[in-house]
Amino acid sequence: MKKQWWQKEIVYQIYPKSFKDSNGDGIGDIKGITEKLDYLSNLGVTMLWICPIYKSPMDDNGYDISDYFDLAPEFGTMEDLDELLKKANEKGIKIILDLVINHTSDEHKWFEEAISNPKSKYHDYYIFKEGEEVPNNWRSVFGGSVWEKVKGRDEYYFHAFGKKQPDLNWENEEVRKTLYDMVNYWLEKGIAGFRIDAITFIKKDLTFKSLESDGVDGLVKCTKTSRNQPGIEEFLHELKRETFEKYNCVTVAEAPGVLYDELDDFIGENGYFSMIFDFKYADLDVASGSEWFKRVPWTIKGLREKIMASQMAIQKYGWGANFIENHDQPRSTTKYLIDQENNKDAIKMLGAMYFLLRGTPFIYQGQELGMTNFERKSIEEFNDISSIDQYYRAIEEGFTKEEALKIVNLRSRDNSRTPFPWNSSEYGGFSTSKPWLGMIENYKEINAEDQIGKEDSIYEFYKRMIDFRQNSIYSNCLIYGDIAPIDTKNDDIISYIRHTENEIIYCYFNFSQKFVFEPLNIGNKKVIFNNLKEFEINEDGIVLKPNQALLITV
Ligand code: NOJ
Ligand code: CA
Repeated sequence: MKKQWWQKEIVYQIYPKSFKDSNGDGIGDIKGITEKLDYLSNLGVTMLWICPIYKSPMDDNGYDISDYFDLAPEFGTMEDLDELLKKANEKGIKIILDLVINHTSDEHKWFEEAISNPKSKYHDYYIFKEGEEVPNNWRSVFGGSVWEKVKGRDEYYFHAFGKKQPDLNWENEEVRKTLYDMVNYWLEKGIAGFRIDAITFIKKDLTFKSLESDGVDGLVKCTKTSRNQPGIEEFLHELKRETFEKYNCVTVAEAPGVLYDELDDFIGENGYFSMIFDFKYADLDVASGSEWFKRVPWTIKGLREKIMASQMAIQKYGWGANFIENHDQPRSTTKYLIDQENNKDAIKMLGAMYFLLRGTPFIYQGQELGMTNFERKSIEEFNDISSIDQYYRAIEEGFTKEEALKIVNLRSRDNSRTPFPWNSSEYGGFSTSKPWLGMIENYKEINAEDQIGKEDSIYEFYKRMIDFRQNSIYSNCLIYGDIAPIDTKNDDIISYIRHTENEIIYCYFNFSQKFVFEPLNIGNKKVIFNNLKEFEINEDGIVLKPNQALLITV
């Protein structure tokens, strides 16, 4: 594939509400990010993805935008953002913003106008259906019907996510044009690109027919009828043509529901986006990404197969965005390492395993410290709307309250949204007053100050790993090289090679607590990266220690 500037970036995802509070109101903000640019630059980050900072009633923490051209006052002003862009630029850090164009907030003036004046053009900016009855049995991603009744009228509006997130009507040309102008406004401002939210939801099945139910609520998931539907390609081509293509920007699409066969359209040479997030292995512990209460058993072997399938499919057509955490996922430590969630060797090994895959690595705030899930004792302690929905749906499906709480604790989006632990002082140095969401209980043991400069810390490991990918003699191979699986008989090993025409790097990751032998018959084996201090190689192969990550070349 032709080399692109965004292939060599190291992206760090910021959840602004929880990163750093600069003015003591308990809510993270833009100035807080600016204050911490040195931290990010020392780590080796080259690009930030900042979750939505636009004006919003924050029903879904900013994924419900009420003004695309203004910022949430709790996050700061346009001057604050300009200052952040400038200072980041001075440090060689680019910034991408979140682009949420499947829906707006119900407090957006277009929607308010659509409701108060159904004859206005804004009525057709959204999806309304007239009638006394709910139009069909589709279930929204956050539970309950996708239809919400308009007060005082026999009319319903459509929302694929929360009821305060009405979907825009992409069939309306003026809606699309208006959105493109907005996208171009932000690109003109000098941002490097976008992470694009829920973009596969913009096209619906226009028959709006009910389907056979798949739950005790009599509803059926709307992902079957409102995600990646035929005809979406026209919208996505147009979006790219009218906006992104005119700039040398990067676009990272949240594109659940895309089949590997369709990747050419999404990320191929003329694809709609630079790269996509593939959720197939992130969601391996649950029946579907949006239904966590249906948990499924999984193994490291299964994880390996899913990761390699994803890598090989993406490599066929283009480029991927690699991640093990984000603001919708639990902490990777608790999720993938289970009873080893505090084992530093294991956390480093897991980090290296995904970080050295082919693609642009994304690090979610706090991942570089090895943060863990936060166990909450009652449903009242949750803020995330989908956690609350999943809890009640689990109970409706027959789980006990204790079981439902356990499920929600494992998967809640609040796990990754706890305020960033900068140090061990009160409120973790995140704020001088009580944060909007409680600090995780272990912040006194897991925080940035304790790890910076400490040789064996997770933070220093991430720093070393970033430097190794970006600035070593192996960088070319690690960034641009191809990937292929290494067959293994060991169920707890993930292994792959990265290679170019004349370089080859063998990468092994031992997820078990045992010593494991892997045959490797190549000439002189040279260890080039190791998360532990020692290694054991012999003529026939290597003996991986528990939780070891080992990279070998000839
Ligand atoms: C995906 C975002 O990542 C998530 O946080 C949000 O709730 C939904 N899209 C709806 O915008
Ligand atoms: Ca603040």
